[in-house]
Amino acid sequence: MQHLISPSFLSADFTNLEKEIKLMNESEADWFHLDIMDGVFVPNITFGMPVIKQIKKHAEKPLDVHLMIVQPERYIEDFKNAGADILTVHYEACTHLHRTVQQIKSLGMKVGVSLNPHTPVHLLEDILPDLDMVLLMSVNPGFGGQKFIENTYKKINQLKALSEKINKNLLIEIDGGVDASNAEKLIDAGANVLVAGSFVFGSKNPAETVKKLKSLDFIH
Ligand code: DX5
Ligand code: ZN
Repeated sequence: MQHLISPSFLSADFTNLEKEIKLMNESEADWFHLDIMDGVFVPNITFGMPVIKQIKKHAEKPLDVHLMIVQPERYIEDFKNAGADILTVHYEACTHLHRTVQQIKSLGMKVGVSLNPHTPVHLLEDILPDLDMVLLMSVNPGFGGQKFIENTYKKINQLKALSEKINKNLLIEIDGGVDASNAEKLIDAGANVLVAGSFVFGSKNPAETVKKLKSLDFIH
């Protein structure tokens, strides 16, 4: 399959959100990546249901909602009602991950589990058959614009090997520090979904940058 691009709205201009959404609707972006932070699981706070609901009104692409919050099981139904299509929780934030994964699926959303840079891939072995996606953090979650962690390639290789054995349909999403210098290498290693925030919204022509991420052609 061709890889997917999920621009992170964390780096969008929130005073012009409708304009930014329209721009991404018209671009080759596949999903809209929305970063939800609670100031506890990560040191930063972003936005919640009211903002997701507003985005949903204008978005013509699936909402890829990345929860960086503790005890996400408290809010699964609220995120569904706000408009999430793909809901990703952190492994490190869930005591009863299996139950939380089933909860997300039972509400008809696609389910993802995310790993922080220090969390080994093998810990997902028993839950992997139940997942649609694994999101590998390639920076420590909390902020846009951080430097890509090189160890991510090793984790993609390990996850790819595991998914070939036990879940061939698994999507591997990479989030953090994705740009022209690593996008192609990530896809070659086995990633299927690239998240990019500052690289897309910090560029002069965000739609053109999405196009480049999609074609992996950064020369022209
Ligand atoms: C970081 C978030 C990312 C962030 C990526 O905690 O999960 O989605 O927006 O931003 P860039 O692409 O700028 O690293
Ligand atoms: Zn994210």
